[in-house]
Amino acid sequence: MINLQPDDLQKRVFSGIQPTGNLHLGNYLGAIKNWVNLQNEISSIFSIVDLHAITVPQEPLKLKSSTHEVAAAIIASGIDTNKSILFNQSSVKEHSELAWIFNCVCRIGWLNRMTQFKEKAGKNRENSSVGLYGYPVLMAADILLYKSTHVPVGDDQKQHIELARDIAVSFNNMFTSENEVDFFTPPEPQIIGEATRVMSLKDGTKKMSKSDPSFASRINLTDSKEEISNKIRKAKTDSYPLPETIEELKERPEAHNLISIYSSLSDQTLQEALNEFSGKGFSHFKPKLVDLAVETLNPISCEMRNLLKDTREIDKILKNGKIKAREIAEPVLKDVKNLVGFVN
Ligand code: TYM
Repeated sequence: MINLQPDDLQKRVFSGIQPTGNLHLGNYLGAIKNWVNLQNEISSIFSIVDLHAITVPQEPLKLKSSTHEVAAAIIASGIDTNKSILFNQSSVKEHSELAWIFNCVCRIGWLNRMTQFKEKAGKNRENSSVGLYGYPVLMAADILLYKSTHVPVGDDQKQHIELARDIAVSFNNMFTSENEVDFFTPPEPQIIGEATRVMSLKDGTKKMSKSDPSFASRINLTDSKEEISNKIRKAKTDSYPLPETIEELKERPEAHNLISIYSSLSDQTLQEALNEFSGKGFSHFKPKLVDLAVETLNPISCEMRNLLKDTREIDKILKNGKIKAREIAEPVLKDVKNLVGFVN
């Protein structure tokens, strides 16, 4: 018998970010900026997903420092750890336990469809870790361990959230009898804003990514004013003025990307941003984008540097988050184990 707490029926946000390398503008606009807004409306949990990070080789010392850096970036961007829970994934063992149970719910055919695995494994598929293949199952465990209902992510994670929905429904079918309330509610992806897929500054058809070898392809949250300015000034463009309509941006990936970044940073719709710049050339637009990007990112990088002076304080915040996360996770996992038929 499952005890449905009133809390079970509430909305809950969960999202995560990997502690691998520098966070960039795509991570900020596609995810963290939306987390900051959502935390005021819905009880929220954010995780630095170190278990996901080790699906590809990591240097242990670097993993630790990246975990601190990402925690600092999240806090500096406006996540209030008195309001929201922030912790690193590996510190809550229930994630791995639920992932194993979900490994036995998820079908191989579903994982074979995951495009991100295909991209990440590339030609080296046979040599990829089993963890990289099962990565989306762990994501489903992250979300459902807290019975989360809303998952704010960039566009690239949509397919993984759909898989989490399939796993939730399949688990319900396997383990909840007809006259019982479904145990898991399929979570909804929240892909919000005008910059849900920020593209490379060097190629508007490629996603901005931590793993792009070109440093100039992305703006990192830690970039100085000069770096931000240089990267935007050198960003690839075409030779036409900015158009009047969104339709006209279709064949102009670089223009589309830069104006989307501008509209997201300025909290305007894409059309509003176009109204501001239509007919103007990039020599007029780019300096405005530089100013706006510096104005937004500079306070974040200053605050990050401040926070990183005392990593023990960051450790304390993460430990506190872990305690609060486990208070929610433990009873959910207990119920899951009970439903599956484990003696515990
Ligand atoms: P990760 O660490 O690759 O990225 C973190 C967040 O940033 C978003 N993002 C982007 N958004 C817009 N444009 C881009 N170029 C861009 N690049 C990255 C991602 O969509 C993501 O929201 N698997 C996840 C982490 C994760 C997770 C979860 C997320 C683990 N468990 C549970 C949600 C729920 C990932 O690797 O994100």
